[in-house]
Amino acid sequence: MQAVDTLNRQFAIPGAVSFQRGKGDLTFVELRSAGSVVNITTHGAHVTSWQPPEGEEVLFVSDESAFEPGSPIRGGVPVCFPWFGQNTTTPNAPQHGFARIHEWNVESVSIDGTGRVVVTFLLTADKSARQWWPYDFELRHTVTVDAALTLALETRNTGGEAFTFSEALHTYLRVSDVRNVSVTGLEDAEYISKTDNFSRKRAGREPLRVEAEIDRCYINTRSAISLDDPGFGRRLTVEKSGSDSTVVWNPWTRKAAATADFGDEEWPFMLCIETANAFTDAVAVAPGETHAMGASISVEQTG
Ligand code: BG6
Repeated sequence: MQAVDTLNRQFAIPGAVSFQRGKGDLTFVELRSAGSVVNITTHGAHVTSWQPPEGEEVLFVSDESAFEPGSPIRGGVPVCFPWFGQNTTTPNAPQHGFARIHEWNVESVSIDGTGRVVVTFLLTADKSARQWWPYDFELRHTVTVDAALTLALETRNTGGEAFTFSEALHTYLRVSDVRNVSVTGLEDAEYISKTDNFSRKRAGREPLRVEAEIDRCYINTRSAISLDDPGFGRRLTVEKSGSDSTVVWNPWTRKAAATADFGDEEWPFMLCIETANAFTDAVAVAPGETHAMGASISVEQTG
């Protein structure tokens, strides 16, 4: 694990990038650019907070979340890799893959030509990753901050055989009340409904409204998604690239109560809109090849 002092000596940029120990003694990097403030833990290369230039915090994090090595953080943007959900061949392997519970290295920090702050985290196969997944890979998570938050996941096959993986930027959006928001961009798309035994369905023509537990993987869809939140007077837009799946998740009452690291009363205040490649959209990469997936989230004040 890279020490905070070393990280600051190597990568800090006054006024833009700094490293500190935070909750649970995890290492956090704070990025500031164009009025945005973003916090990321090296544990999981996990964005835990984004305060945009105007308005409220964009990301939800549960008050009950663990902040400890080896456990996922409940909220922010967990990085799911190299599988999504339960591992079908090894049921005791960690749900959503090992990337979100691993310590990552900071590979580079810079300010680009337009003044955006850019940090890249790197994860490679080590002994604990190999116990679940035998392949050689480099996974880079690049976080770019200006008035928007841009995330990019790059998977490179550094081994001698092809592999197939699933992935998600499992973004927990903070909302005023999930019952009062609407989501556009998924009209007419086909989805796999986890709450209905993984059956395949097709969305209607209207914007999506959440009125019960929802756990859907929309497939073959590259559209940008907008979430209108009249309570917070804002619209969040997620534009994506290299991603064919979009997952929408809210646990609602029963599942929230059954989830240890999620407050029983917190479910109205989040909606996951996940930029992903999962189920039938899993990605195959040949030796030496790289696959890139990205999501850019922007905020528009509407009221
Ligand atoms: C979603 C899945 O992406 O993540 C859900 O579709 C799952 O099925 C949810 O319950 C939360 O997963 P976890 O492992 O963080 O509790």
